Amino acid sequence: MDNIFALWTRGIESERGFWTRWFETKGLEWPDDYTERVRAQRELDPWLQKILRESAVDAPVSNGKPRFRVLDVGAGPLSKIGNFMPDADLEVVAADPLAFIYSDLVDRHGINPGVRTQFAPAEDLSVFFTPSSFDLVHCSNALDHSFEPLRGIIEMLRVVKVGGTIILGHARNEAENEKYEGFHQHNFDVDDGRFIIWNKKERVVVEHELPVEFEIQNTMNNHYVTNRIVKRSEFRDRDDCRRRDERLRKIYEQVIRAMSDR
Ligand SMILES: C[S@@+](CC[C@H](N)C(=O)[O-])C[C@H]1O[C@@H](n2cnc3c(N)ncnc32)[C@H](O)[C@@H]1O
Repeated sequence: MDNIFALWTRGIESERGFWTRWFETKGLEWPDDYTERVRAQRELDPWLQKILRESAVDAPVSNGKPRFRVLDVGAGPLSKIGNFMPDADLEVVAADPLAFIYSDLVDRHGINPGVRTQFAPAEDLSVFFTPSSFDLVHCSNALDHSFEPLRGIIEMLRVVKVGGTIILGHARNEAENEKYEGFHQHNFDVDDGRFIIWNKKERVVVEHELPVEFEIQNTMNNHYVTNRIVKRSEFRDRDDCRRRDERLRKIYEQVIRAMSDR
């Protein structure tokens, strides 16, 4: 993690400022987005519904309908994907490391969120959610704001079921566009069909780093990178306590370093 976590903590205030203004102005330049997101019940994004239906064969059934669990990672204060599916029993969970800030904001503005965002950074999803428990994991415009995006993808693979899908959608090379300010420390790109995460220090081909079997499709349209990853095998180290201990030690160090850098 080096000092990337300390750098990340410096982006918190600017993200809080953005969402504070977003609530105060009812959506900044995106009033329609605001009106949509504050509705307590919204139909799930049609593309995500289609992906779920395609994988419905193995889904458990409740009240005659397939039961699906969907996780929106880095959801912000009000997840944008929707939370209702007419022909399925759908549970949508929204996660974000700034959940405490967002909870205050929605309460202060008297909004009843259909799905209240819970605390969980992408990098440690399996500490907060049961491994292999989601049919679909979605993340838009958020993983490139995280401190370790590759780890975030691996953690998404941990919490999605075998046969389940991860959908990532991000603006191409956002750290470059945003001049490495705030949370913008990583660029996502597609090069020769492969999914690349890079910044001034490193360049990773995501396909080379994933520790389970998977299928991946990487597309780029109008400078927007979309990755669709299907998990095809289970992790071998599901109950590895040493992995957790090592992680906890690093997080402690990084939190204290971040606080002392202020
Ligand atoms: C631009 S907002 C996007 C919110 C939402 N996904 C959307 O599309 O409207 C970026 C979000 O990424 C979140 N984020 C930052 N670091 C993260 C991390 N390590 N794990 C998960 N989300 C993170 C921020 O807190 C913020 O809510």
